[in-house]
Amino acid sequence: MITNAEAYLKEYKGLIDRALVKKIEAIQTTQKLKEAMLYSVKAGGKRLRPILLMAVVETLGKDPMLGLDPGCSLEMLHTYSLIHDDLPAMDDDDLRRGMPTNHIVFGEATAILAGDGLLTQAFECLAQASGLTNDQKIELIQLLANASGPEGMVAGQSDDLESEDQKLSIEDLERIHRRKTGRLLEYAVEAGAVIAHCDDQVRHHLKMYARHLGIAFQIKDDLLDVEGDAAVIGKPIGSDAEKGKNTYPSLLTVEGAKAQLKEHFEKALRSLRLAGLQVGILDELARYIIVRDH
Ligand code: IPE
Ligand code: IPE
Ligand code: MG
Ligand code: MG
Ligand code: MG
Repeated sequence: MITNAEAYLKEYKGLIDRALVKKIEAIQTTQKLKEAMLYSVKAGGKRLRPILLMAVVETLGKDPMLGLDPGCSLEMLHTYSLIHDDLPAMDDDDLRRGMPTNHIVFGEATAILAGDGLLTQAFECLAQASGLTNDQKIELIQLLANASGPEGMVAGQSDDLESEDQKLSIEDLERIHRRKTGRLLEYAVEAGAVIAHCDDQVRHHLKMYARHLGIAFQIKDDLLDVEGDAAVIGKPIGSDAEKGKNTYPSLLTVEGAKAQLKEHFEKALRSLRLAGLQVGILDELARYIIVRDH
């Protein structure tokens, strides 16, 4: 078992990259749509959500490969959310994963459809996941729909856009961060728990770990938009300020945002201890999320 985050990320990213591309290439669809879907999937990305999912399965003592298909499904859904997030009607960004955004290359209509395609395919991929029982698949489909849909990520995206140029309280901002970004990370962890059949108490503490991790992840994303290097993060810098977004640095200053980041990181680690799980890759992944440079 690899416990060093960097080696772990590298090995699992390779597995996920290959499986994902194979799955998209196998889709019988029109050429332009397939090209557009493959473009964003192949552009890269850290694959953090599927890696987290597989790491939870492994930490709970089961074969991490059971998490590969559900992880690919989650990455398809996440990639759709990025394609739509970058559209002119949303964040209007032209760089993603170090490449021109999907709508810049394929046009808005195809970018919208490529997103729709990845979102829908995510559920087909989950329904066909190998090694899982039908009960597990139904539970995962329900959890993913809830985390990504109008009670989850989509609601967070809506609130994020609606609150541009308004000054929110930190509580309201946390609510947005939790839904727009946190819910998919929470799903990654919870899916791992479902796949490994873990008990309710452990699952509860793992969910709390994921909740703090999710907020920490978006705080770090906000910080990178201020102090990151566009060449490293593969996204434009200063996009949030340009759009009048509410972010942790804009509400609390960079220092205040960093203090909150540390607090959520520590709370995430505390939840892991309460879950009684062995210190290992889940600790390391939390640490990686707060120190990452992209
Ligand atoms: C970016 O997610 C969007 C947010 C939810 C903050 P990631 O930072 O995981 O993006 P990729 O997948 O590595 O490109
Ligand atoms: C988007 O948050 C979260 C999603 C649901 C895609 P951001 O708008 O901050 O993500 P980036 O910075 O463009 O990746
Ligand atoms: Mg956005
Ligand atoms: Mg954005
Ligand atoms: Mg951002």
